[in-house]
Amino acid sequence: MNILLAGSGGREHALAWKLAQSRLVSGGAGTLYATPGNPGIARHAELVTLDLTDHAAVVAFCEEKRIGLVVIGPEAPLVDGLADSLRAKLFPVFGPSAQAAQLEGSKGFTKDLCERTGIPTAGYVRTRSLEEAQAALARFTAPYVLKADGLAAGKGVVIAETRAEAEEALADMFGGAFGEAGAEVVIEEFMVGEEASFFAITDGATIVPFGSAQDHKRVGEGDTGPNTGGMGAYSPAPVLTPTLEAEVIQRIIGPTVHAMTNEGMPYSGVLYAGLMLTAEGPKLIEYNCRFGDPECQVLMMRLEDDLGELLLACAENRLASLPSPRFSSDTALTVVMAAEGYPGTPKKGGAIGGIDAAEATGANVFHAGTALAADGRLVANGGRVLNVTARGANVTEAQAAAYTAVDALSFPEGFCRRDIGWREVAREQATG
Ligand code: AMP
Ligand code: GLY
Repeated sequence: MNILLAGSGGREHALAWKLAQSRLVSGGAGTLYATPGNPGIARHAELVTLDLTDHAAVVAFCEEKRIGLVVIGPEAPLVDGLADSLRAKLFPVFGPSAQAAQLEGSKGFTKDLCERTGIPTAGYVRTRSLEEAQAALARFTAPYVLKADGLAAGKGVVIAETRAEAEEALADMFGGAFGEAGAEVVIEEFMVGEEASFFAITDGATIVPFGSAQDHKRVGEGDTGPNTGGMGAYSPAPVLTPTLEAEVIQRIIGPTVHAMTNEGMPYSGVLYAGLMLTAEGPKLIEYNCRFGDPECQVLMMRLEDDLGELLLACAENRLASLPSPRFSSDTALTVVMAAEGYPGTPKKGGAIGGIDAAEATGANVFHAGTALAADGRLVANGGRVLNVTARGANVTEAQAAAYTAVDALSFPEGFCRRDIGWREVAREQATG
């Protein structure tokens, strides 16, 4: 079978690495195509140039190459309805419809769904004008949580310590700081607790747990400094105990999937729940309609089954016929190497060397933002550049293995945090 993978980041490199091992394409059974891909993905897939916003062009490619499965990595084409355009032509797609992708594409949509179905989450109001939002602030106490309703590349959330800061942030949001995404703003109660992520694969009827992870969003060590797309992650997240996982499925994921199906917009794909583990139990912070980046990299390192078979079964609404996916009990941990300047303006073109040496230690180096220069050298071409990913018996060992690989790399114009996994490493040391 031929498979098309859409996307170009570290998440897609991890998916390509795992898909290339699938019975569906390995040993000459088929071809894995990726668009637009990156130099790391090119090791596992044939790269093609397609404009993902031009649905007719993507459909034409799938017809020409007789694609049997399309896997869509990022949220933007999902929210834009690429899966719908492909399904209309009967191509099996891993990823939700535009209607179902509203779970990520509209914070207000998700909050309303939680309210209708009694899913635990922070109290909220949806506001559609600056006046309405300023007035609504009176119903909350500091810190104020303000969210642009739409997709804002992970930058649409402001936590304001004072009322004055909140008023200023609201003025920015309604003033167009996030474009259309900020035409509506959700104001929420502030929740206290530890954050964790949980993943489930669903075809709208069957729900398959797909593991947990924790990431580090701040750029600086000790979780300080500006927010980023994620500087590192590990899986599983021991804080999400089997009891808590069962509660998350029963009280959050299950009711969401069933409500979406009952309301005529079945969710198909991976549902990624960002959770706050509060004193009253796990509460939903937000949903994403795709794998996390870099959380996907650590999940793929632990998955022991055929990813192609699983995603195809999801796309064909027959998840119930498959055994639950198996994961290694090992921990996988990934360290993000970023270009100087990130999360501001990252420096492009920095030379990268030593990937073979890093992988010789047993790690996988996934490409997130790389390019080949005119002379064929590998260079940085984005904020997050490489994801150095390793396994170990626990977080302490996985962390040591990942940094051994990091130290074998050469990327003078890049940097990474040296403390990915610190919270769990401290807990492991405390319990001996
Ligand atoms: P989101 O994009 O919705 O995941 O929000 C980004 C980050 O803001 C989350 O990872 C949390 O750290 C924080 N956050 C979002 N909503 C809340 C909330 N209601 N209470 C506390 N922190 C929040
Ligand atoms: N690492 C967070 C995300 O993918 O949204």
